[in-house]
Amino acid sequence: MKPLIKASSSSSPSSALRKASVSPYLFVSLAFLLFVAVLYGENLCMFGQQLQLSRPLSRTEKKDDEALPFAIGEAAEGCDIFRGRWVRDKSTRLHYEESQCPYIQPQLTCQAHGRPDKEYQFWRWQPHGCSLPSFNATLMLETLRGKRMMFVGDSLNRGQFVSMVCLLQTVIPEGAKSMETFGSLQVFTAKDYNATVEFYWAPFLLESNSDNAIVHRVPDRMVRKGSINKHGKHWKGVDIIVFNTYLWWMTGMKMKVLKGSFDDEVKDFVELSTEDAYRIALKSMVRWTQKNMDPKKTRVFFVTMSPLHTKSTEWGGAPGGNCYNETAMIEDPNYWGSDCSKSIMRVIGQVFSKAEVPITVLNITQLSSYRKDAHTSIHKKQWNPLTPEQLANPVSYADCVHWCLPGLHDTWNELLFTRLFYP
Ligand SMILES: *[C@@H]1O[C@H](CO)[C@@H](O)[C@H](O)[C@H]1NC(C)=O
Ligand SMILES: *[C@@H]1O[C@H](CO)[C@@H](O)[C@H](O)[C@H]1NC(C)=O
Ligand SMILES: *[C@@H]1O[C@H](CO)[C@@H](O)[C@H](O)[C@H]1NC(C)=O
Ligand SMILES: *[C@@H]1O[C@H](CO)[C@@H](O)[C@H](O)[C@H]1NC(C)=O
Repeated sequence: MKPLIKASSSSSPSSALRKASVSPYLFVSLAFLLFVAVLYGENLCMFGQQLQLSRPLSRTEKKDDEALPFAIGEAAEGCDIFRGRWVRDKSTRLHYEESQCPYIQPQLTCQAHGRPDKEYQFWRWQPHGCSLPSFNATLMLETLRGKRMMFVGDSLNRGQFVSMVCLLQTVIPEGAKSMETFGSLQVFTAKDYNATVEFYWAPFLLESNSDNAIVHRVPDRMVRKGSINKHGKHWKGVDIIVFNTYLWWMTGMKMKVLKGSFDDEVKDFVELSTEDAYRIALKSMVRWTQKNMDPKKTRVFFVTMSPLHTKSTEWGGAPGGNCYNETAMIEDPNYWGSDCSKSIMRVIGQVFSKAEVPITVLNITQLSSYRKDAHTSIHKKQWNPLTPEQLANPVSYADCVHWCLPGLHDTWNELLFTRLFYP
């Protein structure tokens, strides 16, 4: 089979475009996230370790027999597209080259930052019992004609947003596309289609003290109950929305949930377990969806936790390592890493199984957990000069949270594509 999507041009981006795609707050937020990951790497799993997921959680896509909007076919019966294996595929795999997509932020351009191997780019996700349809950029753009698609969440969701833009922009001629940033919102426009693909920064979905990543302090991380509209007012009117939220909850500490306002001098807050606080945020998201998204015309997706590979002992590696220098994936089909995300997965299953609106879960956690080879590691732009101590020990500054592009995010979007058109 020939590749469906080939880059039509590889002309260099305008400097304006580069500027727009790297706003300072993102620099800081990414640097911060890495800091968090390093600082709290040990503590990430303080909760939930004893919890087991005993039963498979129900899928929540279909609440009735009516076809979902945008569907052009049906899902293969009895096939869970999130269960499967990675298959090496050198011939059809690559949708675009890193150098052909000018929108990839320098935190994710691994080749440009010296990654010596390219193997991580050539894996295709093969579900047990069915095959994914090929990603068709033209079909996706035709579907988005006169419409808006928005990704809402943290830097992992931003990676998926950029991947989607890269997948689509290969078939859009130069001059017929643009990328702009307006504060927390980043907008890619396909002019001939009057279509936008957007990203909105809201790492907790709720209002939080991390919304502006320049003004925050780690130990004080706090979200405000009942505040979803603070951000949600910027999501109204979109046709396809893709949420995620996970990483920023992982402090290993109790979560402060504010009852009053962030402007109050004396803050009125309660401390809740991460799961309980997360549940509040998810329920708010479901309620927002119920109020603002028409199930007959729009679609809502939720992307599950993106796994970290910060501790090599979790996959039987030598102590003291992480994803640094990893070029092979984890072979154990039952691998899940530490159990710390299981209790969050359970909350997701519980909240969505009670939701009265169709929310399509993109359950990418398991399939991504095998991919210790796919992180950016040290091959990314560093915002602060590295110290001699760091340089002597690359493990200390490897980013085992984010993923190279092209790479794993493209698979997440193939799964999104599959669920959108074949729900
Ligand atoms: C991709 O989608 C377009 C628009 O629906 C269609 O015309 C085309 O045949 C599709 N390409 C493939 C390879 O399926
Ligand atoms: C372009 O798309 C927007 C929605 O994003 C819609 O409101 C508007 O009417 C469209 N304009 C044209 C000329 O189709
Ligand atoms: C990286 O891994 C390779 C083999 O997997 C090994 O030979 C090499 O020593 C490692 N390099 C470092 C700096 O750890
Ligand atoms: C996602 O997949 C994992 C592993 O297959 C499963 O344990 C979990 O229940 C699924 N989560 C949801 C919300 O469906």
